[in-house]
Amino acid sequence: MKLSIDMHSVLDDNKLLTLPNGERLNLPPNVRVMFEVEHLRYATLATVSRCGMIWFNEEVISTSMICQHNLDVLATVTFGADDEDFAAIASDVSKSKGRLDVQRQIVNILEPHFGPHGLVNIALAFAANSSHIMEFTPIRALNTLFALIKATIRNVLHFNARHADFPLTSDKVELYVVRRLLLDVIWSFAGDSQGQVRADLGEQLRKQSGVETPTMAIGASLIDYDVDVASAQWTSWQSRVPTIEVETHAIITADTVIPTIDTIRHQEVIYSWLAEHKPVILSGPPGSGKTMTLFSALRKLPDLEVVGLNFSSATTPELIFKTFEQYCEYRKTISGITLVPKQIGRWLVIFCDEINLPALDKYGTARVISFLRQLVESNGFWRTSDLSWVKLERIQFVGACNPPTDPGRVPLSNRFLRHAPVVMVDYPGEVSLKQVYGTFNRALLKVAPNLRGHWEALTDSMVAFYLASQKHFTPDMQAHYIYSPRELTRWSRGIFEAIKPLETLSLEGLVRVWAHEALRLFQDRLVAKAEKVWTDDLVNSVVSAHFPEVKLSEALVRPILFSNWTSRHYIPVDRDELRKYTRARLRVFYEEELDVQLVLFNDVLDHVLRIDRVFRQVQGHMLLIGISGGGKVSEFSVPNADWQDNPVPLRGLDEWPEYLPDQGIE
Ligand SMILES: Nc1ncnc2c1ncn2[C@@H]1O[C@H](COP(=O)(O)OP(=O)(O)O)[C@@H](O)[C@H]1O
Ligand SMILES: [Mg+2]
Repeated sequence: MKLSIDMHSVLDDNKLLTLPNGERLNLPPNVRVMFEVEHLRYATLATVSRCGMIWFNEEVISTSMICQHNLDVLATVTFGADDEDFAAIASDVSKSKGRLDVQRQIVNILEPHFGPHGLVNIALAFAANSSHIMEFTPIRALNTLFALIKATIRNVLHFNARHADFPLTSDKVELYVVRRLLLDVIWSFAGDSQGQVRADLGEQLRKQSGVETPTMAIGASLIDYDVDVASAQWTSWQSRVPTIEVETHAIITADTVIPTIDTIRHQEVIYSWLAEHKPVILSGPPGSGKTMTLFSALRKLPDLEVVGLNFSSATTPELIFKTFEQYCEYRKTISGITLVPKQIGRWLVIFCDEINLPALDKYGTARVISFLRQLVESNGFWRTSDLSWVKLERIQFVGACNPPTDPGRVPLSNRFLRHAPVVMVDYPGEVSLKQVYGTFNRALLKVAPNLRGHWEALTDSMVAFYLASQKHFTPDMQAHYIYSPRELTRWSRGIFEAIKPLETLSLEGLVRVWAHEALRLFQDRLVAKAEKVWTDDLVNSVVSAHFPEVKLSEALVRPILFSNWTSRHYIPVDRDELRKYTRARLRVFYEEELDVQLVLFNDVLDHVLRIDRVFRQVQGHMLLIGISGGGKVSEFSVPNADWQDNPVPLRGLDEWPEYLPDQGIE
C-alpha cells in the first residue's frame, strides 16, 4: 500500500495534512500517528525517517504463545456467548456453567499435545517441510487448527445438549477429542497439500502420537476416516457415501452433484470453518470441482444465502460494495451503523470465485483482497460518504481459485491468508469418478433400456480412458493438455444427447458413440500425429477390455463420423454420402457469397462436423487452436443445415486452400 508522500508534512514540524482534495488539516499537539505495515518497499525514505520504528520479528510471538493464548480462551470464554446456535439450545446460567466445565476438561486433554514434543509440534515441523498449494505459515495453520478444535468442542457440547440425560462420559470425551485432534491437525496443516502429503502426515502422527488409529488399507489416508461423536469410534467416510439415483435430465443440469467421499468430506470441513465464520478458500487445478463443491455445500444450508461473484484481473472493491448494496441494508443501532443482509435472520455468504485473479496495483497490492482482509479482520469498513464506521453483521466470505502458480494468477497476500483456511481440491480419484459417472450412466441408459446392464462397463471404460489420457498427456507437453472431470461430464452428456431420440440402439451403436465422443474430447486437441495414433489405439484397447462381446469391426471401423445433416437424428454417417450432401449445399453458397470453390478435403469435412457437434451442445463453447492461415476461420464458416440462412461472417477465405493440405488444424 502507498504510504503517501503527503504524510511528510504531517509527520514533521509542519504538522499539516493535505488531503487529496487540497484541504489542509492541522494536527493537534495531542495526536500521534501510528502505522502498521508489512513492509516499507513503497514508502519514501523521507516518510520512514520521520517515524520511530520497531521491527516485529516472527519470533516475537512464538507459536507456543499463540497456542497457549488460544487454549486459555477455549478454557475461559463460554461458547455461545457470541453464538446464536447455542443461545437457542440452552440459555440458562447453570447450563452455560456446565458447558464451561466441558470446555475446561477438553482443554486439559488437549494441553499435553501442544507441548514441545507433542503431536502439534511434530506436525508443524512436518508441514513446514512439505509442499503446499499456497505458502505455508504457522500462524495460518494454527488459526485454522483452533477453528477446527472449536468445531470438535462444539460437537461435544451439541451432543450433550441434545442428550441432556446421558451426556458423554469423560472417557468418551477424551477418546473423541484426541482422535479428532489428529484429523484437525491434518486438515489444518496439510489440508492445502496433495493427498500424499496428507497421508504421510497421518502416518507420521499415527506412529508418533500413540493414539489408536483404525487399521487402514495400503494407500489409505487417516482422513479417509472420521470420529463418531456418540461412540468415539473411527468411521470411514466411504461408508457414509450414499449411492443415489438421478433422473435422466439431471445429466444435462449444471448443478447436479453426486456425493463422493471428496464432496462429503470437503463439505464437512467447510461447514466447520463456516461455523467459525472463517473465509474458507478452495484451491486446485481447473475442473477439479471447487466451484461445484462450494456451491453445493453452501446451498444445502437453509439459513444462508449465497452470492457468487466472479473475480477477474480488473476486480476492485467496488464489486463488493455493489454486492452489499444489492443484498444488504444499513441499519442505525445504538452501537453504531451496521450492514446486515436484507433477508432477515439469514447469513449472507459472498463466494468470490477465482479470487486470485485481481491484478496488483503499482504498489504491489490487490486492493480488493486488502479490502476483504479488512472486512474479515476488523469486521467492518469506513463509509466514505459520512466517514462513519460500518460494522458487518451476518456477512461472510469464501473463495475458490486455481493454484497461484498457474498463468495469470496472483498469489494472495499472507496478511489475507492468515485468516483463511485453505483446502486443496485435487482431481477426484478413481473410486469417486466411478461413483459420479456410474450414477450419470445409469441415468442415461434409461433411454436405452435394453442396454441398461452395461452401465458399469460404460463407466469403467470411460474412467480408465480418462485416467490413462490424463497420465499420458500433461500440460508440460502442451499448455492445453489438461483433462479434468469436465471431459467425463461432457462425455456422458454427449452420449445421452445422441442416443436420446433413437428408437433402437445396439451395443455396437452405443460403443460407437462412446468412441466418437472419446475422440472428440480427447483426441481433437492433440498436436502430433503420433499422439493421435496413441489415442486411437487406446480407444481400441479400452473397448476390447471392457466390452469383450462387442463386434469391433462394426463398432469401431474408422472414420467415425456423426452428423444429423442427412437424417433426423445424430447418427453415424458415411463420409462419401456426407461429402455429396455438403457439396450440394455449398454450391448455392459459393454462387451467392464467393467466387472460389471450397474444396472438401477429408480433413475439412471432419473438422466441420466437429465444430458443428460442439455448437449443438448446451454450453458448447469452442477454441480453435493453430497457426494463422490454417483454415480455422473458413471451416468455421461452412454453412451447415441449421445455419444455412445465417452464415457466419467469412474472413481470409482466399488464403486457405493452398495452406490447408499440409498445415490443416491439428
Ligand atoms: N461429484 C460430482 N458430481 C457431479 N459432477 C462432478 C462431480 N465431481 C466432478 N464433477 C464434474 O467436474 C466439474 C468440476 O467443475 P468446477 O467445479 O467448475 O471445477 P473448478 O471450479 O474446480 O474449476 C463439474 O462441472 C462436473 O462436471
Ligand atoms: Mg471454478
